[in-house]
Amino acid sequence: MPGDDLKEILREPGEILREGGLVAFPTETVYGLGGDAENAESSRKIYAAKGRPSDNPLIVHIADFSQMEAIAQELAPQVRILADAFWPGPLTMIVRKNDRIPLETTGGLDTVAVRMPSHPVARQLILSSGCMIAAPSANSSGRPSPTRAEHVADDLSGKIDAIIDGGPVEIGLESTIVDLSEGIPTVLRPGYINLRMLEEVLGQDHVRMDPGLMEENVSARPKAPGMRYKHYAPRGDLKIVEGAADDVVETINRLSAEAIATGSKVGVIASAETRSRYLYGDIVEIGPRSDEEEIARHLFGVLRHFDDQGIEIIYSEAFDTPQMGTAIMNRLIKAAAHQLILAARRVTRVIFV
Ligand code: TXA
Ligand code: MG
Repeated sequence: MPGDDLKEILREPGEILREGGLVAFPTETVYGLGGDAENAESSRKIYAAKGRPSDNPLIVHIADFSQMEAIAQELAPQVRILADAFWPGPLTMIVRKNDRIPLETTGGLDTVAVRMPSHPVARQLILSSGCMIAAPSANSSGRPSPTRAEHVADDLSGKIDAIIDGGPVEIGLESTIVDLSEGIPTVLRPGYINLRMLEEVLGQDHVRMDPGLMEENVSARPKAPGMRYKHYAPRGDLKIVEGAADDVVETINRLSAEAIATGSKVGVIASAETRSRYLYGDIVEIGPRSDEEEIARHLFGVLRHFDDQGIEIIYSEAFDTPQMGTAIMNRLIKAAAHQLILAARRVTRVIFV
């Protein structure tokens, strides 16, 4: 769409935002539910529309680095380095805030999450509104994040003023969040920009993962409030089956057959490579293992599909892919409430004669 047309189309949504209303819009990661970040009342409306706990802070979307400087206290030097490398794009930075962004927007915290999106609609909406746009993902709290406008409509129709339909998003997982408000830069939420990419820019040992993110670490709490809530949850009971491909297929087929025999509606998340080997239930192909970006893009939509079908039990393969595996498995493991099944190894006996 030529820029002038986009400007024209976004004039009205921009006005809605300026007047304190709520507009859902596409970004390169997921759809966001936007309000004027400097307007406490708009932020209150966002929490109400999503049914989101008001201590879970919003991300402020900007179009120019000067807006970061306008709302932050003194910035760590790494902020500029990361902005040069990854903005506009799927990276959110947490910095110490000044008084310009109200506490309603930051869930009462003295830090603020800031992102400069690359999606042309998101960028133009910020410019047209003249606002910095506070936007969480545009889903009802607890449901998978929306990757198409239809998902937003399913959750929020009648509760917000407008939805801008920009088609399916490009990435499909929410932005990588890095905390730069104190100490060593820390990844609070994994995303498309992975730890290795951050290390390349900041140097090894100069960026780390939030220890609270690791599932086996029960003593630490994730630092991002949103990572503590049960999240991304499909309505069905999701279990992830790990192991060698043959063992995973065999285990899922056995478990699906057992669940169907007891009257449950079963769904299976398969890869393109294994799709034809599954025998029971609503089998959905999420993408080829050779194309992890496709897997990421489809993940939330697949979980929503099972909700729509009234699926009660879902078995999924694990997707520990090279670039986005940490981000994909983080979302999947949370959706599964940490239910992991190790597929039994098929043991081949050697019989001596
Ligand atoms: O890709 C994205 O980031 C999308 C699009 C719309 O930009 N937005 C998004 O927002 O995912 P939301 O609200 O669903 O997730 C924001 C996360 C939450 O886990 C929240 O707790 C965390 O960011 N967060 C926000 N401000 C924070 C702060 N000051 N300190 C720590 N965590 C913060
Ligand atoms: Mg969200």
